[in-house]
Amino acid sequence: MTSSIKISPSILSCNFSKLGEEIKSLEKAGADLIHIDVMDGHFVPNITIGPEVIKKIRPLTKVPFDVHLMISPVDNFIEDFANAGSDIITIHPEATKDLKKSIELIKKFDKKVGISLNPNSEISLVEPYLNDIDLILVMSVNPGFAGQKFKPEVLKKLEKIKKIIVSKNLKIDLEIDGGISFQNSIDAKNAGANILVSGSTIFNENNGDLKKNIGLLRTN
Ligand code: DX5
Ligand code: ZN
Repeated sequence: MTSSIKISPSILSCNFSKLGEEIKSLEKAGADLIHIDVMDGHFVPNITIGPEVIKKIRPLTKVPFDVHLMISPVDNFIEDFANAGSDIITIHPEATKDLKKSIELIKKFDKKVGISLNPNSEISLVEPYLNDIDLILVMSVNPGFAGQKFKPEVLKKLEKIKKIIVSKNLKIDLEIDGGISFQNSIDAKNAGANILVSGSTIFNENNGDLKKNIGLLRTN
């Protein structure tokens, strides 16, 4: 999974009144993953959707669900999100008292494990767990809302993580999330990201031409 670029559109920017259709359109448009932002109004200052909605949209597509949990304490809900049909479950170190235990809980349900680092979170938070996880999600905005401005300073962190992954010969996907545009997607890929999350760019640019926007983010 680490050699080619994957695009994970965030449904946070879709039209929620026709969520099912949007999911099918994303599959048709070539989405590699579907990024689902789960927010609780406590860990982040916004509220989105829960496991029931994920369960309802799960049968509509074969595209894997890349579920980004911005909720705390996260352990109470891992089972529900696993059973709802998540394929990757990504959590923030700050959202749990015992990260090792939370990782084990996700693995118990046979799901891929992602760890997300906020713009100000240090790489050292994830380093002890590199052998236990499948993905690192580098946030390029403070989590909570779509449509925020990309923080270019995270590119250095992305590069550092990429170097660690290569030097230790690990099979860890490196995903970037927040404010991704056609321009900075190039920098993100050069810095080592192999999965790009995008909400606003995919749903709003080029009159919402999902196929064109996914293609441009992948290949430009
Ligand atoms: C922010 C979310 C992102 C967001 C991306 O908290 O984690 O996934 O929806 O949206 P854009 O691409 O608009 O920044
Ligand atoms: Zn996200």
